[in-house]
Amino acid sequence: MDIKPIVAGNWKMHKSGEEGVSFVGKIKNRILDKVEAKVIFCPPFTSLFSIVKALNGTDFSVGAQNAHFEVEGAYTGEISVGMLKSAGVQYVILGHSERRHIFGETDVWINKKIHAVLNAELVPIFCIGETLDDRKSNQTTLVLENQINLGLQGMESIDPVKMIIAYEPVWAIGTGETASLDQVAEAHAYVQSVLERMFGQVGYKVPILYGGSVNENNAMELIQAKGVDGFLIGGASIKEESFCSIVEQVSKFYKR
Ligand code: PGA
Repeated sequence: MDIKPIVAGNWKMHKSGEEGVSFVGKIKNRILDKVEAKVIFCPPFTSLFSIVKALNGTDFSVGAQNAHFEVEGAYTGEISVGMLKSAGVQYVILGHSERRHIFGETDVWINKKIHAVLNAELVPIFCIGETLDDRKSNQTTLVLENQINLGLQGMESIDPVKMIIAYEPVWAIGTGETASLDQVAEAHAYVQSVLERMFGQVGYKVPILYGGSVNENNAMELIQAKGVDGFLIGGASIKEESFCSIVEQVSKFYKR
């Protein structure tokens, strides 16, 4: 199994097509030969084609930030998994807290999306995480377990090469507040235990990323937290210096 750490950049609603191509071009020149990490850029839909083209022939990959679960139909404004696949996308972020909390996505929808993405042989980056209220009321493990159970419902087996989980405490996303190393290690160990219970020993091998205010100053410490296989990065992923520095630190300090 590929045990490279993973660094995924979630650009959210940032960068036009030209800005995106120029950005990945610069990153490519700076770090392509030096990285020991799997790097995944997740730009907005409108940039997917041009970024896939710009990264052609490199080890860098491209992911989408969402997908609809139906193959086609009257779903104004939505994009199907088949469309993403034909654009050259390999990964799809699903269940991101902004989709859950701003756009009202439910666990049932996320579950359908995970199945659609897997059926198309793309890799879901399945996001889970507790809110501050959940944490304060000691519900963190319950919330994580529910999100995993519901999100992966109907899956009889899991392939660690075809699934990525991202643990992102909602209170740490875009707030500048990072979970402590103990909180991260605890949550990752818990997620691993749930996956192991559901799928047996192979569940333990599914990569689990941490996300929530990761930056160039905390990456070195966080990547060494037990059970952390890489990062899903928002704000710092659209800044050249920060992103390159994080990828370099992950390459250097990751150990599973
Ligand atoms: P952040 O976002 O790094 O800006 O906190 C993380 C995410 O939303 O995936």
